[in-house]
Amino acid sequence: MRKTIVAGNWKMNGTSESIRTLLDGIKAGVPVVDGLVILVCPPAVYLHQVKELIGDASVAVGAQNVSAQPKGAFTGEWSLEMLRDLGCEYVILGHSERRSLFGETDADIADKVAATLAAGLIPILCVGETLEQREAGETLALVAAQIDAVVQRIGIECFASVVIAYEPVWAIGTGLTATPEQAQEVHAAIRAQLAGSDMQVADKLSILYGGSMNAGNAAELLAQQDIDGGLIGGASLKADEFLTICAAAA
Ligand code: G3P
Repeated sequence: MRKTIVAGNWKMNGTSESIRTLLDGIKAGVPVVDGLVILVCPPAVYLHQVKELIGDASVAVGAQNVSAQPKGAFTGEWSLEMLRDLGCEYVILGHSERRSLFGETDADIADKVAATLAAGLIPILCVGETLEQREAGETLALVAAQIDAVVQRIGIECFASVVIAYEPVWAIGTGLTATPEQAQEVHAAIRAQLAGSDMQVADKLSILYGGSMNAGNAAELLAQQDIDGGLIGGASLKADEFLTICAAAA
């Protein structure tokens, strides 16, 4: 069964006090529905606190990045063993901010996806085009290439354990949102690309939309046939708005 996932990417935001308040609000109203995963992805320094505060509430915890290396002299990095030790289930990989600000390449991201799968965690593979690429009509080719880099590294079968997030770069943090039709077009193309190799994997694949999804537009985006949830930035930092999106996904 294809999972619906609403994931909050908190990015580099929060303090121990604000996180406590945010989680109290989320825990008070999180929906418990078969097939619906509610996930929060705090900054790595707060993963332990978040896991403790969530307790046995129906909220999963994810990381925003991870090293592909198992351990060693990699100052400032953290490993998959550490994330697993903290009870993390998901890892966001290939976010456009990692690609543009920190120079992560398709190959780097493919290595991280492979290591994450090997560690038994679930990669959320982010793909998406810039405004220039969209205006040049390169969106579908760009997204297909980002996905193919991972297919070549791990094989199509492994996508049974991967989540994909389509995040048009021009919609991230801008208040601009892809129309439901624009998002559906790319989601359908992603599913068709994988279906070309393995229909079952493609059918089970959860494809999330990210890019200024909020309480006002979530329902119409989530109504699209190939949109299986959201990867939420700014709106995930407000408990009531995040819960409204979760309710729209339920
Ligand atoms: O990873 C989700 C994020 O990139 C979307 O951010 O603030 O546009 O919802 P935002």
